[in-house]
Amino acid sequence: MNELPVVLPRRLAAAAPGWTTTADVVVVGSGIAGLTCALRLRERVDRVLLVTKTVLSAGSTAWAQGGIAAALHPEDTPQEHLDDTLVAGAGLCDVEAVRALVTEGPDRVRELVALGAHFDLDDGGEIKLTREGGHHRDRIAHAGGDATGAEISRALIAALQQVRDDPGIEVVEHALVVDLMTAADGAVCGVTLHVIGEGQRDGVGAARARAVVLATGGLGQIYTSTTNPPVATGDGMAAALRAGARVTDLEFVQFHPTVLFLGEGSTGQQPLISEAVRGEGAFLVDDTGRRFMQGRHELADLAPRDIVARGILDVMGERGLDHVWLDARHLGAAFLEERFPSIVARCRELGFDPAVDLLPVAPAQHYASGGVETDLRGRTSVDGLYACGEVSCTGVHGANRLASNSLLEGLVFAHRIADDVTARLEAGDLAAREPVGVTGEGRDVPGSDLLDRRLRVELQRTMTRGCGPLRSAGSTAGAQAELAALAELPVASADPGPDAWETTNLLHLGQALALLARRREETRGGHVRTDFPEREERWRVHQGVTRGADGRLVVAERTVAEPMGARA
Ligand code: SIN
Repeated sequence: MNELPVVLPRRLAAAAPGWTTTADVVVVGSGIAGLTCALRLRERVDRVLLVTKTVLSAGSTAWAQGGIAAALHPEDTPQEHLDDTLVAGAGLCDVEAVRALVTEGPDRVRELVALGAHFDLDDGGEIKLTREGGHHRDRIAHAGGDATGAEISRALIAALQQVRDDPGIEVVEHALVVDLMTAADGAVCGVTLHVIGEGQRDGVGAARARAVVLATGGLGQIYTSTTNPPVATGDGMAAALRAGARVTDLEFVQFHPTVLFLGEGSTGQQPLISEAVRGEGAFLVDDTGRRFMQGRHELADLAPRDIVARGILDVMGERGLDHVWLDARHLGAAFLEERFPSIVARCRELGFDPAVDLLPVAPAQHYASGGVETDLRGRTSVDGLYACGEVSCTGVHGANRLASNSLLEGLVFAHRIADDVTARLEAGDLAAREPVGVTGEGRDVPGSDLLDRRLRVELQRTMTRGCGPLRSAGSTAGAQAELAALAELPVASADPGPDAWETTNLLHLGQALALLARRREETRGGHVRTDFPEREERWRVHQGVTRGADGRLVVAERTVAEPMGARA
């Protein structure tokens, strides 16, 4: 394979920091992972700084519909949750990470309830549980019917507001992290960030810390259509990559099967029709009304989402369709309105009534199964840097995340990270280091050029064409070439600022993703390689990408531990 070298700058062009602040730990991001981690750290360390790109509630967590998976039913067990997770992960899960998730998960969810999150309850006052794709049991806790993430976000933000006057924690909104600061030994010792604020904290500044926890979410905006909110531009993941952290399994992008199809021209965040709708009995049909998931998998419409997405793509290809349909009509208006109030309201706003109409749906980008590689404590390959939630790759999701495991992962690993950071601070194991090479950077630094925001659409089209759910050597190589050309464009008009930084982050991650997608010559997890339609044992490996000292991305493969006791 003729691999094009990908060279990334160490940092983005930005003004020199005009202000500095210091904390023990900087937590970046305010979804379930960031908020949980910051709240737990605050009880234990002297000074926590929580920064978030826009407002506290703007990230992906608040958009999560279906719920949070945990073996809460007396007849369910963590082992069964583990088995289902491993099957969905298509042979690439790290079993010990999954074990931590499923064994600690139930207690973490109960703690969320104790903190004030209101889950939907059954007649006996127990948490009501439903089922989603890939689960063999009802184990999805939900809130407000289909507004689980919004309720969890509300409860965590309320808990944060209660301690906002505490001098041990500071929250800065409208703060976009530009890059990670590193010391001479390569360890992370803070972040540079751009704050839209007032007074001293305005413009580019530096937040120095002994540890940085990235909880910045995913990269959905790298594709033309996604369920992710506009803030999901991979900022933390790209900054980690530039700072030398290993980013793993990036080619495993999850495409949610049932995203409302609003026409070819629809771009950006699209309305999700939760898998829980199928969990309650809705099913997919083609243009003849045939239930095409039957016979494809024992769980039919509730197969793991890669299988359902693939089934839809097959039918679309065979029948020349740009979408299929979800039939929820038999569930009735009363049930749908009560169980899925947000989805029903959004559909009606857009002219579809789920109780009356077939809903046009097609797969769209939904989740990054890979990310910044961590160990079981959330530590990345760079000292002082932690990653939690969608930005991370803990090994829990393998090649394809099991439905409703993402909120749980953020919760469980946020606790683990807070515990590890606390222990290391107490042991004096996280030194305060001097950052190197931060000041005086600007567009004169070779390779730190920015991509103009106006080229974002072209970048998204390139990624969608080349590295979507159906890929090949040709398509991924095409994406690589187009991204390389974008990276080399004269960029005189791209002034340093949030739009250009976000777009450049998408470019850097796109380059890494296309590199890994092209190398992986098999079909596994979230995508189909049309030229390699089978899963291959030789490819039962993680691919990690790291930026070397010369800026080149270097790929290394790592074997996967045998998933014992699984039905993988
Ligand atoms: C959904 O509600 O279908 C999405 C849940 C998830 O992504 O885990």
